[in-house]
Amino acid sequence: MVEIKSDKQIEKMKRAGAILAECHKALSKKIQPGITSAELDQFVEDFLHERGAKPAQKGYMGYPFATCASVNNEVCHGLPNRKPLKNGDILTVDFVVDLDGWLADSAWSYGVGTITPESQRLMKATKKALYKGIEQAQPGNRLGDIGYAIESYAYQKGYSIVREYIGHGIGRRIHEEPEVHHVGERNSGMKLKEGMVITIEPIFTQGLPFIAMGSDGWTALTFDGSLSAQYEHTVAITREGPIILTEQA
Ligand code: MF3
Ligand code: CO
Repeated sequence: MVEIKSDKQIEKMKRAGAILAECHKALSKKIQPGITSAELDQFVEDFLHERGAKPAQKGYMGYPFATCASVNNEVCHGLPNRKPLKNGDILTVDFVVDLDGWLADSAWSYGVGTITPESQRLMKATKKALYKGIEQAQPGNRLGDIGYAIESYAYQKGYSIVREYIGHGIGRRIHEEPEVHHVGERNSGMKLKEGMVITIEPIFTQGLPFIAMGSDGWTALTFDGSLSAQYEHTVAITREGPIILTEQA
């Protein structure tokens, strides 16, 4: 069952989303060669606690950190660690904020120092695809419209889409119904209604779409070692159209 949120509940999620967006902005200023993802993870945890919020991923299904930190060929769910980030890395930081029991979820890819034009192009296309998907998050449209918009843009730009990780409904829990696939056919799948809140979170790779599981049991890697990027927003579907609850100022 897809839980429909009231305007009041969406307002609460927007407050969680505003803290999340502010935290991503602050993170973007800290990310540079030499810093570790463990330090960034601690920064996020402190930032949230100072604002009366909590990192909802910590303890979720046994996950031990506030953030997921995925570098280069790591597709998602990378574990923060003490390896210094290197010039040219692509770092994706994903985290969920819980403010008074209401959640918001957003992932962002960052270039560490100076990145190659190829990496820039990958990141730009992945971000653009997220916004193309969001554009389709309108009452009366269907889930397949979101997937189609993202999939067709990926192919137009020459990238692959990871199928195994998908967007989801969100509210008082991280993962609610529906499943939000980043591939699909127009006018297919569940009809979108006012009051649904979902994440859209495409992952593009430069090479094949296939993934492998890392030895830590969490980190997903590209099968062929190619680079990946991911952007994620939490989006409310309203009569005025999609409202991005995690938009950065
Ligand atoms: N934020 C992730 C998502 O976008 C969820 C990560 S779950 C964790 O769906 F356990 F890995 F933290
Ligand atoms: Co996320």
